[in-house]
Amino acid sequence: MNADKSFTARRGEKWKTSISDIKKGEIRVRGYDIAELMEKLTFSQVIFLILKGELPNSKESKMMEAILVSSIDHGATPPSSLATRTVISGGNPLNAAVAGGVLTIGDSHGGAIEQCAKIFQETVKKGEDLDSLASELVSDCSAKKKRIPGYGHRLHETDPRTVELFKLAEELGFSGKHLKLAQVIEKKLEETSGKKLPLNVDGAIAAVVSDMGFDWKLGKGFFIISRVPGLIAHAYEELTREKPMRKLGNTDFEYDGPKPRKIP
Ligand SMILES: CC(C)(COP(=O)(O)OP(=O)(O)OC[C@H]1O[C@@H](n2cnc3c(N)ncnc32)[C@H](O)[C@@H]1OP(=O)(O)O)[C@@H](O)C(=O)NCCC(=O)NCCS
Repeated sequence: MNADKSFTARRGEKWKTSISDIKKGEIRVRGYDIAELMEKLTFSQVIFLILKGELPNSKESKMMEAILVSSIDHGATPPSSLATRTVISGGNPLNAAVAGGVLTIGDSHGGAIEQCAKIFQETVKKGEDLDSLASELVSDCSAKKKRIPGYGHRLHETDPRTVELFKLAEELGFSGKHLKLAQVIEKKLEETSGKKLPLNVDGAIAAVVSDMGFDWKLGKGFFIISRVPGLIAHAYEELTREKPMRKLGNTDFEYDGPKPRKIP
């Protein structure tokens, strides 16, 4: 039984929500009238509002916009686009295809934002000496043969999205402790492993949203919001351009299981 006073759904009480208030002929999001939001704000500003509870200032608006644009698509081969295309190619509706794509978002694809932001936020709380904290983290992960989420990329040696996000974060005043920690870890990881494991877009978003004051538990949300338009475009293109159930993904496999045999 949860004894926390903030846990509102206690027996006999109405459960509470602070997101939207809906009455006949009236829709308010975080207290603001929907018509006014439609007239005065952009989509990414309202996303900031609904996630954080307050309106963004002009710097937060610009940073949020860039974060959401950064992950809109990364080609037809990441797990989410491939899954979306596979599901629609099998003769299923668009919503099922997009849901299939979203389900692939995990610790290795897109979902790394959550785990990475958790590491940054917990590490920054431990103290001021980011250099020692980063060394400790990298040695610990290396000893346990654990990958650090947010680092490494199959294609990019330097992720162009990270470069742009960090440039904007610097200009807009979001280059705080989390961002600095992200950079120190990148350097230590290269020194320890001898490999170039660049801070990828997930790691960059993790650092910037942490410096913007977002809870790491929202991490996957930023990637989902950003990538869904891309997945819809993949589903639509697959449906309208390709024949059903075409060969998708890597079909060049070799069987190495048991030789043909009979049940005794
Ligand atoms: C993104 C990723 C899957 C790309 O992998 P890849 O380029 O195909 O690299 P590999 O899986 O072949 O790994 C190559 C080596 O680098 C190491 N490595 C890769 N990413 C690492 C990381 N984040 N931390 C520590 N070591 C890492 C691997 O352990 C491997 O070491 P080994 O050669 O000693 O076995 C990988 O870097 C990763 O898992 N990163 C963490 C998850 C993440 O950030 N995902 C978001 C991607 S945008």
